[in-house]
Amino acid sequence: MNKEELIQKAIQARDNAYTPYSKFNVGCALLLKDGSVIIGANIENASYGLTNCAERSALFAAYSKGYRQDDILSMAIVGDTDKFISPCGACRQVISELVNEKTAIYLSNLNNDLKEVNKHDLLPFSFTNKDMEK
Ligand code: THU
Repeated sequence: MNKEELIQKAIQARDNAYTPYSKFNVGCALLLKDGSVIIGANIENASYGLTNCAERSALFAAYSKGYRQDDILSMAIVGDTDKFISPCGACRQVISELVNEKTAIYLSNLNNDLKEVNKHDLLPFSFTNKDMEK
């Protein structure tokens, strides 16, 4: 599967978003080494802070199925933004722990804007498990 096809999967994932408050649907699609694709969408809550973004929904779904960092080849994220979507800070922290440095991250929108980054581009100097070692 190429990046355009993975981005299409993320666009389709937006249909599953639960966004009664923001009405802003985001989709995420992960391509795994075994060829499978796992999708996620943002799931909101009346207690707004409990909202789960599309990126975390997809990554938690993958981990729940037993996949780990090195299984995730690429990640596509799509929202209806003017330019490519920019993941929130919480998702950047989660992405930095749950994918590896080689995972290609495609930030896109509905107008075919595309920026390709890796986890270090999204969150340099991230807090990691190593920071807890003395
Ligand atoms: N959201 C995501 O799911 N991913 C992003 O990268 C940006 C923001 C969601 C959270 C909330 O449901 C809505 O978009 C508006 O912030």
